[in-house]
Amino acid sequence: MTARTPRNFFKPLAAGAPAPLLELPVRLERMIHFVPPHLDKVRAKVPDMAGKADVILGNLEDAIPADAKEAARAGVIEMAGMVDWQGQGTGFWTRVNPLNSPWFLDDMMALVEKAGRQLDVIMVPKVEGPFDIHYVDQLLAQLEARAGLDRPILLHAILETAEGVARVEEIALASPRMQGISLGPADLAADRKMKTTRVGGGHPFYRVIEDPREDEGPRAAAQQDPWHYTVARMVDACRAAGINAFYGPFGDIADLEACEQQFRNAFLLGCSGTWSLHPNQIAIAKKVFSPDPEEVKFARRILEALPDGRGVAMLDGKMQDDATWKQAKVIGDLADLVAAKDPDLAAAYAG
Ligand code: GLV
Ligand code: MG
Repeated sequence: MTARTPRNFFKPLAAGAPAPLLELPVRLERMIHFVPPHLDKVRAKVPDMAGKADVILGNLEDAIPADAKEAARAGVIEMAGMVDWQGQGTGFWTRVNPLNSPWFLDDMMALVEKAGRQLDVIMVPKVEGPFDIHYVDQLLAQLEARAGLDRPILLHAILETAEGVARVEEIALASPRMQGISLGPADLAADRKMKTTRVGGGHPFYRVIEDPREDEGPRAAAQQDPWHYTVARMVDACRAAGINAFYGPFGDIADLEACEQQFRNAFLLGCSGTWSLHPNQIAIAKKVFSPDPEEVKFARRILEALPDGRGVAMLDGKMQDDATWKQAKVIGDLADLVAAKDPDLAAAYAG
């Protein structure tokens, strides 16, 4: 393997492999919708789901029983041909099994050969450090060359071990294939020995309470977000590397309100999207990860008030300057991306 010096960083890692991308494609990725590909009934709904979600992911890892791993792999290959993914502008991803599992190598070999032209991103679970990405990067280059692919498949890491969190900055910078990182709160909780039994979200025991009251009445208390530190650290690692950060799974499918709040916190802190495990969560993610029309209108007023992005202006009593212009640009650019895909939101943003 060649050293990752600045000059080598964008060279293909195998003769005949496509050159790494200098820039990530700009895509709307508000939700990565997880599909269990071994289930015929669910697979049959893929074309319909591909019209609703920004990204569809065929899952091969956890939640797929050991005796269904091969059927799931075949299911992803079938999904590749069920939709004109690139033509329609829906992302087509897969999550492979972990590097130390008996399935990883066959997952990679079969998927790149038989679905490599359609696959945009391979999600790699339980990434512990840049060495895991380097290995997958090299293997992918060999497989891409053998399959004659002309477009590189990108990589997405799940942050779900304590070691991975400790090395998240190095993971984000490990390869030009890195598209993003997702929080994996279920595995991360186990690896950290957090005393929980949930997939993401808050916990009723993780809270702060007010000081004892003079009247000895009940003390006000509020739940805190146990994921705040990790999400913020992941966002910094990703944005510093020019890649995207994502919330992960929210397991309580019935608690739409808590799901919406957890997604919104991630959106406000800088995440581009989240996972959806149920069609109800697609709708929530669409609502949360598309900027609010009122915010978009205010952002556009800021952009107009400082046409060259410099100087100072007052809007509704609030100071605007170069830095608020940059914030407004983030929201305005995202609104343009959303509007290009969603006529209802395009109308709401214009109105
Ligand atoms: C996702 O894979 C998680 O472990 O939360
Ligand atoms: Mg996991």
